Amino acid sequence: MTKRIVAYSRLKPPHLDQLRQRFHVDYFEALEGADDPAFREALGQAHGIVGSSLLITPELLDAAPHLEAIATISVGYDNYPVDELTRRGILLCNTPDVLTETTADTGFLLVMAAARRAVELAEYVKRGDWRESIGEAQFGSDVHGKTLGMIGLGRIGAAVARRGALGFGMQVLYSNASPKPELERELGANRCELDELLAQSDFVCVTVPLTPETTHLIGRREFGLMKRSAIFVNIARGKVVDEAALIGALENGEIHAAGLDVFEQEPLSPESPLPHMANVVALPHIGSATHETRDAMAQRAVDNILLALDGRRPISLVNETAWQPAG
Ligand code: DGY
Repeated sequence: MTKRIVAYSRLKPPHLDQLRQRFHVDYFEALEGADDPAFREALGQAHGIVGSSLLITPELLDAAPHLEAIATISVGYDNYPVDELTRRGILLCNTPDVLTETTADTGFLLVMAAARRAVELAEYVKRGDWRESIGEAQFGSDVHGKTLGMIGLGRIGAAVARRGALGFGMQVLYSNASPKPELERELGANRCELDELLAQSDFVCVTVPLTPETTHLIGRREFGLMKRSAIFVNIARGKVVDEAALIGALENGEIHAAGLDVFEQEPLSPESPLPHMANVVALPHIGSATHETRDAMAQRAVDNILLALDGRRPISLVNETAWQPAG
C-alpha cells in the first residue's frame, strides 16, 4: 500500500518530487488554517505530515487516525502537543543542526544592528537627513570587549556565544539548566544564576526553547535587573518574553535598546509600538530564513519522513520514547 502524506509550507518542487516518488502527496501550497475542509479530508487518510507553522492540536490529531509521523520543517516544536503525540505513538521529527549557524548569524546581526543603530541610521540617510558629519547624537555602543549574557546555551546559544567570544572578544555569561564545561573551556564562558547574568551583561540574548517553564521567563522584574545601557536580543520565541513589560522597559529607559526576531503574536501587528521605536530593530522571524538553510531544513524534513514511514529511525527525533525499532 502506498502511504499518504499531507504536506504544506516551505517545500519546493525537488522536495515534493522526492516525496511523490514514495508516497501519495496531498500538497497545500497556501494553507490558510487547519479548518480547510480539503486539508481535514486529507488528514483523515494521512500516515505522515510535513510542514511548519501550523498549530497541531489533540483535536486535529483525532482527525488523523492513521498518522504515524510528523516532520516539522523547524527546530522549534512548541506548535506540537509532544506528550499527546507520544501517547498516540506518533513520531515527531524536527530539523536541528542545519539551521544553527544561520540562526546565530541572525542573533549577531541583531546585536550589531541594535548596538550601532544600523536600521535607524540607514533610515536617516534614506530620508536625506545626513547633511553634515554625524555627531554624538548618532553614536552607538561598542560590541567588542563587552559582556554577552546568554539565556540558554544549546546549539544556537553556543553558536551566538562563539561569535561573541571568538569574533568580538566578549566575556560570555550563561544561564542554562545544565553546565557546559566544554564551552567554558573553549570560550571562557561562565555559568551563573539568571539574576546575576541580567545585572552583569551589556547584551542579553535569549535562545531558550518555549516551554511552560520558559513562558514569560523575562518580564518586568527581569528588565528591572538589567543595566540601563543593556541591549536585549530575542531570537528564541516571542512568548519567552512578557512583551508588555519589554515595551515598558524600553519606553521608561530601563534598558537601552532591543533587537527582536520573534514576538508574542506573529505576524506582529502594525499597531504594536515596537517596530516604531527608534531603539528597536524588529525583524519578521527570519532566524533561519536563507535560501541555503531553508532548503537544508526542508531536505531534513523529507529525509525524516522517508525514514519514519519506512520503519527506520529518523535523523532528528523529538519524542524518543515514541520510537519502537522493528523486531
Ligand atoms: C525554527 O526552526 O524553529 C525557527 O524558529 C525558524 O522557523
